[in-house]
Amino acid sequence: MYLKTAVFSVILFTLQHVVRLIYFLGYHLHYYQHYPGPCQQFPEIEFGSGNFYTLPDGTTFITSGLDMNVFSRRFQLHYTSQGVEGAIYLTKLNGSHPEIALKKLDIIVDVAADKGGFNLETFHPHGISVWFDSIEGRYCLFVVNHPTRADDRIEKFLFDPDSLSLHHVKSYTDNKLRSLHDIQAIGVDSFYATNMLHEHRSRFFMLLELFSLMPWSSVILYSEETGFTEVVSGLMSATGIVMSKCGMFIYVMLSLGSQVLVYRRGEDNSLKLQQMFSLYTHPDNAVLDPITGDLFIGAHPIAHQYLNHVDNPARHKAASQVLHLRLTEGNITSVTELFYDDGTLISGSSAAVVYNKTLLVGSSVDKLVACEVNVPI
Ligand SMILES: *[C@@H]1O[C@H](CO)[C@@H](O)[C@H](O)[C@H]1NC(C)=O
Ligand SMILES: *[C@@H]1O[C@H](CO)[C@@H](O)[C@H](O)[C@H]1NC(C)=O
Ligand SMILES: *[C@@H]1O[C@H](CO)[C@@H](O)[C@H](O)[C@H]1NC(C)=O
Repeated sequence: MYLKTAVFSVILFTLQHVVRLIYFLGYHLHYYQHYPGPCQQFPEIEFGSGNFYTLPDGTTFITSGLDMNVFSRRFQLHYTSQGVEGAIYLTKLNGSHPEIALKKLDIIVDVAADKGGFNLETFHPHGISVWFDSIEGRYCLFVVNHPTRADDRIEKFLFDPDSLSLHHVKSYTDNKLRSLHDIQAIGVDSFYATNMLHEHRSRFFMLLELFSLMPWSSVILYSEETGFTEVVSGLMSATGIVMSKCGMFIYVMLSLGSQVLVYRRGEDNSLKLQQMFSLYTHPDNAVLDPITGDLFIGAHPIAHQYLNHVDNPARHKAASQVLHLRLTEGNITSVTELFYDDGTLISGSSAAVVYNKTLLVGSSVDKLVACEVNVPI
């Protein structure tokens, strides 16, 4: 009798998990294409424009060349055969589309002085955040790095606007940093970062963690006073993290969780949950429009397409979607879909921003696209 009940419970549990997974993967979904105006690809970028950060004057930093140690062998082969390199690009969004100049920034490493062991050859940038150091009058860039066959870490650079170069100044490493995704700077030497997954080395255990839908994702705070501390835990695949224009609220995207969590920042940088907002899609990164304070999200509406695309980018395309979120006193009060593409123009959108009527859409491992915004937003 007990055995029968136990067996029945296990079967029921497995069945509900399988149904949940099929639902997550989105085999039942289909959407139709729409753009806010004419769009064009940037010829300079072929392999990734994973995340951006836009300054109040429209200057936008873009990370390119994503690779992670838990990615498939096929992905790694494609990466090396195409000669892909990790890079940070800069563009200035100023409403003069399509004449947006894109520049790959020079990265300068002082090998003798660099104690962190930063290696440009194994640099694979992902999440990015910029902080203006008002005392020194310069911009600091914080970038998530997935170095080849080494643990994930965060790099800090100083931006030199005259020579358009980045000077590497510091690396942050700690065993609390697992499979990192994104970062939000909150000072010249402090930030929040998201651990998308707990597993950070083995592809097998990463897939197991992903498909068993384990809530092992977290938000880590770093400051000089506290060191590395976990401020939020128990999340399901936290990806993007972004701060409101006023600095009081933090938004965390949950990719498999299909939600945005809104947190209020405490004096001690603790995070208090204020709103859970369902998105019915898989958000990747969010970028703040520094003028209006609105958020734009690059999302993966059809998860199975995205997983195939990242497994074998040369073969599989994935749908792209941009959402526009409006905020009232920190809370998300409305969402509009601004862009949808079946993967032909751009595959696997992972970030987006609108600045002065130009929409910029980035992707994990595909193109970068700019569109005119001719619809009211
Ligand atoms: C926009 O930027 C481009 C390239 O940097 C520049 O040539 C152009 O004059 C700028 N336009 C405006 C309206 O600022
Ligand atoms: C927005 O774009 C227009 C048209 O190119 C330009 O004249 C204007 O200065 C831009 N505004 C800002 C805030 O950059
Ligand atoms: C934000 O949303 C939460 C949850 O829906 C609600 O309890 C709270 O009152 C809202 N705050 C504001 C300022 O609207």
